[in-house]
Amino acid sequence: MVAFQRLANTLDYILEVRNLCTYFSLAEGTLKAVDGVDLTIAPRQTVGVIGESGSGKSVTAQSILRIVPPPGAIEAGEILLRRSDGSSVDICQLDARGKHIRAIRGAEISMVFQEPMTSLSPVHTIGEQIAESIRLHITRDKRKTKSLALDMIHRVGISNPRQRFDEYPHQLSGGMRQRAMIAMALSCSPSLLIADEPTTALDVTVQAQILELMKELQDEFGMAIMYITHDLGVIAEIADEVNVMYLGRVVERASTIELFKNPLHPYTRRLLKSIPRLGGHGGGRLDAIRGNVPVPLNPPQQCGFSSRCDEFIAGKCDAAVPALVDMGNQHYVRCYLHSEESEPAYA
Ligand SMILES: Nc1ncnc2c1ncn2[C@@H]1O[C@H](COP(=O)(O)OP(=O)(O)OP(=O)(O)O)[C@@H](O)[C@H]1O
Ligand SMILES: [Mg+2]
Repeated sequence: MVAFQRLANTLDYILEVRNLCTYFSLAEGTLKAVDGVDLTIAPRQTVGVIGESGSGKSVTAQSILRIVPPPGAIEAGEILLRRSDGSSVDICQLDARGKHIRAIRGAEISMVFQEPMTSLSPVHTIGEQIAESIRLHITRDKRKTKSLALDMIHRVGISNPRQRFDEYPHQLSGGMRQRAMIAMALSCSPSLLIADEPTTALDVTVQAQILELMKELQDEFGMAIMYITHDLGVIAEIADEVNVMYLGRVVERASTIELFKNPLHPYTRRLLKSIPRLGGHGGGRLDAIRGNVPVPLNPPQQCGFSSRCDEFIAGKCDAAVPALVDMGNQHYVRCYLHSEESEPAYA
């Protein structure tokens, strides 16, 4: 009965990340960019991932798509991708250059980045690039491909699709390039879209338009979104659930409403305090917190936030890693102020 219940519960997710550890082997030692991340994403859900620069958000996303640059490598964990036909695959076990992960990228999971030029080629037209993705995953029929690409360009709100089809990325404004990248990412109706700071480089009005567009397309296409950002305002706007990351770990997770109402981790509380008042400067970014995220090079077995925490308990917070514990109501926190439980110590 227990086993059955487990199975039934896990089928509620399209992506389940368990104890993901992604490390960079550097001359100076081991940089633990992602160190035991657990995440789940349900169909059609928008899961926010928030944390300061260096907390491991992008490396988590790169791990899911198996595009971690060397010398980075997944050292442990599972990334289970589940399909509606009941089949599932552990992405960690795939060859990062093999045909299996290439078939998943773009078709089942796709990604949009902060800087569109990282995924748009400057030497091909917008239309060619969207069509290429359709050709790879949907149809080889030329006319069908072109009409699907034109339709996609239209759906992301780019005017004059026929003219834009033949234009190069540099001929488009930043906001239009971002729309073109979204069109490319969604052209094969992925079940999960990973958005890594896709609006950070845009001005506030265009940012709001892109967020609105993503919500509309989510309703239409039914995909789940993993939305990575520094910006708490954006999280409040788009996410159903939030994962707060710090130094390679999820330190708190809750529904967006619960997290804003009742933050438990000292780090989350500080993040929320750093939101400027309406009309102030800073736009809800997290730079207002004193000090920087340390570099997790050969990190000691302790709470990652100890060095910056006002509520640090000597002999406890620096002696082991607190476990991520459910405080009820699907609200999880990794902090000794709330639970005595520790992660098991690894050799
Ligand atoms: N290619 C790489 N080589 C070595 N270290 C890396 C590499 N990429 C990331 N790191 C390190 O891994 C850690 C996590 O980085 P990551 O890029 O995931 O942070 P992030 O949360 O996405 O930050 P940001 O908000 O600035 O994008 C950092 O300490 C970073 O310096
Ligand atoms: Mg990043």
